[in-house]
Amino acid sequence: MKEKHEDMKKYRYFLKDNIRLITDFSQTDQSLGVKPPPIEKPFPIESKRIVLAKPDKWQNINETGLISAIKNRRSHRKYSNEPLSNEELSFLLWATQGVKKNLGSTVLRNVPSAGNRHPFETYLCILNVVDFEPGIYRYLPLEHELLFEFGYGSRQELAEKIGIATLGQFFTGTGAVVFIWTAIPYRTEWRYGIASHKVMAIDAGHVCQNLYLTSEAVGAGACAIAAYNQELMDKLIKVDGEDEFVIYLAPVGKK
Ligand SMILES: Cc1cc2nc3c(=O)[nH]c(=O)nc-3n(C[C@H](O)[C@H](O)[C@H](O)COP(=O)(O)O)c2cc1C
Repeated sequence: MKEKHEDMKKYRYFLKDNIRLITDFSQTDQSLGVKPPPIEKPFPIESKRIVLAKPDKWQNINETGLISAIKNRRSHRKYSNEPLSNEELSFLLWATQGVKKNLGSTVLRNVPSAGNRHPFETYLCILNVVDFEPGIYRYLPLEHELLFEFGYGSRQELAEKIGIATLGQFFTGTGAVVFIWTAIPYRTEWRYGIASHKVMAIDAGHVCQNLYLTSEAVGAGACAIAAYNQELMDKLIKVDGEDEFVIYLAPVGKK
């Protein structure tokens, strides 16, 4: 019992900011003049890309009352079979990782991030979105487009795989889409070194909260998922598990 308590105390360290006192910020890669990593994970030029409805062209995204979105927000684990539209998906992606201002060497997004480092990529496991074949896609925030990563056979097959990778939470495969966020830790480590990891976890919370609220705004529901099999999730979207790995996910479906 005492051992267990000592262990817990040890891991609480992660939530505190003592690390800052022992971090030599003069030795971070940024301070040493190393070039920053790309804002967006590069992709082969010949990749299949899908255009998303541009934010200034949305026709059916209403100016939803923020108060009612906050009031109605809850975790939804039951969804109807109604698909999401391209426009709705565009809205959810824009709200969670979209770019609002391009400053050249950096961009400002619709969510905050420590040091504006934005260490995440957004993968989508698309199950039921109008005109999209089921499969794994990746959001390109700079282009506001989707990159088709690969197909996975049928919707059922993909749903089964995501259910297993989320430790038997099979409701994750019953919505229209699963947002899967990976961390590319070096983006933040480049600036903050070993003082990066707590703030990256905090960053992820903002992203998912915007997904909750915007889902409500389009008559859908979301559910944050932090319990999953790391290896299976990384394998599902084909990331290396070391320099990029899944950190958080959330299914979204119409109510
Ligand atoms: C960090 C985090 C991880 C979560 N992980 C899961 C999960 O793996 N499975 C699940 O069904 N719900 C998960 N949830 C949802 C919580 O169970 C839910 O937010 C909580 O019960 C409160 O309900 P509400 O969101 O409807 O207010 C998670 C929520 C957060 C914020």
